Amino acid sequence: MKKILLTSVVALALSVTSVSAYELKSNMQLLNAELREVQQGFITSDKDGVKSAIERFAKHANELLGNKEKFEKMLPANKKHKSNEAVMSAQIIAHNVQIILDAVENKYNQSGKLRREESQRAYTYIEHACFRCHNIVRDEN
Ligand code: HEC
Repeated sequence: MKKILLTSVVALALSVTSVSAYELKSNMQLLNAELREVQQGFITSDKDGVKSAIERFAKHANELLGNKEKFEKMLPANKKHKSNEAVMSAQIIAHNVQIILDAVENKYNQSGKLRREESQRAYTYIEHACFRCHNIVRDEN
């Protein structure tokens, strides 16, 4: 009896880990798809496309990365100490999303060329935030 109980506890623990691994993976794939839509918007100079894609992306990025405890739960045991990176990345992403939205809405009354350049640069900084965290979490230590 004790053995059966122990086995099921272990099985439960294993399935919880894989559920969070699955959750992390599918959420990351969603962010990836949405960021690619943003990139498409920029490359085809589709302002409305950029706006709708960046809004969806921003919402999901914040939901996934904005809460340290939630993100920590999704990380495997040997990586949990890297959860700080999530909130840091969420802030970098939110800051650059705002730059893009302000440019799209011409909040500061700037030329179209300047707005395009600034928002495109902000897009690359968002991508950099993805790379930055991957470099850290994929490192051995
Ligand atoms: C706070 C850290 C962090 C940030 C920021 C982050 N990721 Fe991830 N990402 C991970 C972790 C952890 C994994 C899972 C382990 C692995 O793949 O090394 C992962 C995995 C992935 C995967 C692979 C999913 C699969 O199929 O296995 C993709 C794609 C991905 N991320 C895209 C992105 C994109 C796009 C961004 C930026 C918008 C981003 N990530 C930002 C931590 C992060």
